[in-house]
Amino acid sequence: MKRLKNPFYNRDIVSIKDFQRPDLDYLFQVADNIKTSLPNDSLSTKSIGLMFFEPSTRTRLSFESAMNSLGGKSISFGNPSDSSTQKGENLSDSLLTMDQYVDAIILRHASEGVSRYASEICTNPIINAGSGSEEHPTQAMLDVYTILNECGKVDDLNIAIFGDLKYGRTVYSLLYALSNYKPNIHLVSPKPLQLRPDPLIELKSKLNISVHENLQDIISDLDVIYTTRIQKERFPDLQEYERVKGSYKIDNNLLAKAKENLVLLHPMPRSDEIPSEIDNTVYAKYFNQVSSGKLIRSTLLHLIFTENSSF
Ligand code: NCD
Repeated sequence: MKRLKNPFYNRDIVSIKDFQRPDLDYLFQVADNIKTSLPNDSLSTKSIGLMFFEPSTRTRLSFESAMNSLGGKSISFGNPSDSSTQKGENLSDSLLTMDQYVDAIILRHASEGVSRYASEICTNPIINAGSGSEEHPTQAMLDVYTILNECGKVDDLNIAIFGDLKYGRTVYSLLYALSNYKPNIHLVSPKPLQLRPDPLIELKSKLNISVHENLQDIISDLDVIYTTRIQKERFPDLQEYERVKGSYKIDNNLLAKAKENLVLLHPMPRSDEIPSEIDNTVYAKYFNQVSSGKLIRSTLLHLIFTENSSF
């Protein structure tokens, strides 16, 4: 098979919409190869700067740990309040400073559009590690990779996206990533948490989508359930949050009607939508997803910094 040119070399990863099926196929193929023989020390001359203006556990740790495994360095401010942001420094000055010190910036911010802006003003690649309720492209890459690993395919699967579809950025990136394939998508949420109308119209032109208010009616048809946390911090009105909090959940009663090979995913962190008793069921694959996170981010860093990858 003829190898494609590395589509990630020196590239910004701002939106999943900037990547198409051949790019994803390429990434997943290299990830499969890297899984068995990590190119240790291949990034020993490279460094990344982590700029997280919002909390993170998995995204941040997986990027740091990926860079460590490849022999590279990472720097960061532990918390924006330790940086000159606290003294009122504007974002562009902070970005331009980090851009001088490292070879790529991993950026998470509460405002939409910040990663795109950063990619316009910085010389080094920007990786969007979450922008407002808009996008989280590397999460979508690892989510699709996990589905492929667990189910062997994406086409024709019945995939439910369940929970806070209004504010969950991983939902949007995942749906756009899935629009490169032919799954049947079931959007399941309480009415106030339904997908925002404009993306729904756009996504309906690319994907076979049906909308539901609860999982009970469709659970027996599903191959994958991707559950999300209610995004308390993104509600403009906390009373609106209070009205819907705790209004959806996966439990053993529900799972009693599931297919035996149903795959349960969650980008994490979770609140109460998947209780810990579910972790012991055969369906729970969200920690495999966490593990794919490090592999996909290692692969991305390798490809961003290595023009002619031998993997
Ligand atoms: C998600 C995020 O930050 O959008 N977390 C993650 O990166 N895995 C999901 C969330 O916060 O609910």
